[in-house]
Amino acid sequence: MVEAIWTTTDRDGQTLVHLIDQRELPSREIELLCRTHREMADAIREMVVRGAPAIGISAAFGIALGAQEETAPTEGLAFSNHMESVAVTLGQTRPTAVNLFWAIERMRPVWQKAANLPPAERARVLFTEAQAIKDDDIERNRRIGSHGQALLPQKATVLTHCNAGALATGGYGTALGVIRGAVEAGKNISVYADETRPYLQGARLTAYELTSDGIPTTLITDSMAAMVMAQGRIDAVIVGADRIAANGDTANKVGTYGLSVLAREHGIPFYIAAPFSTIDPRTSTGQMIPIEERSAREVTHQGERRMAPEGVSVYNPAFDVTPARNITAIITERGVFSPDELSAYLSGSGRAAS
Ligand code: MRU
Repeated sequence: MVEAIWTTTDRDGQTLVHLIDQRELPSREIELLCRTHREMADAIREMVVRGAPAIGISAAFGIALGAQEETAPTEGLAFSNHMESVAVTLGQTRPTAVNLFWAIERMRPVWQKAANLPPAERARVLFTEAQAIKDDDIERNRRIGSHGQALLPQKATVLTHCNAGALATGGYGTALGVIRGAVEAGKNISVYADETRPYLQGARLTAYELTSDGIPTTLITDSMAAMVMAQGRIDAVIVGADRIAANGDTANKVGTYGLSVLAREHGIPFYIAAPFSTIDPRTSTGQMIPIEERSAREVTHQGERRMAPEGVSVYNPAFDVTPARNITAIITERGVFSPDELSAYLSGSGRAAS
């Protein structure tokens, strides 16, 4: 299975972080090397690596790179100040996926505790933590896959949007993890993948991952989703998430909200698959989730070719918010929750998930 992020060590003992350059897929499988936290921040901002959990893992490795850059034996406060500025740089890359901030928060006590260690040692400790975040994410995804596959019948066709696969995570995927889990459980699963305008994560990445795995996949343009649902071709919609608010409202790739309305209209279950690192208890409702706006060029151009007239105004929100009322269930590594059950669980009053 394709891997988004991995590390190697060079002759001088420096850790290098490798990213598969997702901008080039599926035409070319090339990698981009990050040696500094600024290179990692650029890679996140420019979509070399994308997808909420993968952004968080990359930020964690970016923090470790930031520690490795500080070769002088600066101690205590000086090192912590350096690391805070590294965290600010990484935290300014993409605003919606909460996993970015979650990962920085998880790294903070580690760099604070390591502040007085020798430079090589504190970088080692931080790379170890970043690797643990990645390994832990894969494990969470496998549990999401196992909980989620139980929701699917023996033969099912799933519609998904954007890419919530191995490329968007430490590995295995969330929404695609559920699909992989069902296939591993011996179920007969086929997938409709929305192309996901304007950035085409569905066409370029999801179709690439699923066809590489040999999972039967049909690519459609986003505007065909209503038709394939009306034709009775879809048994479940499963998507990932960039941030889940405390009330269950969920930000995901723009177009997800529309799919949820369509699923409701056609009586099709609508599932979100995401780890707890994507749940933000401090954001009470979806209205509070910051939505990234991306460049007009993503809408006006296909590759180098202009598809819209010069001077037209463009609105390009990268995400939308699906209200909790349209979500059948949220599939997590801790089990499957209805949005209400998740809210109760987060407030400490709920039962354990089913
Ligand atoms: O803009 P992107 O490609 O980072 O958006 C990705 C998505 O919206 C994914 O569905 C989401 O991050 C979940 S990835 C497991």
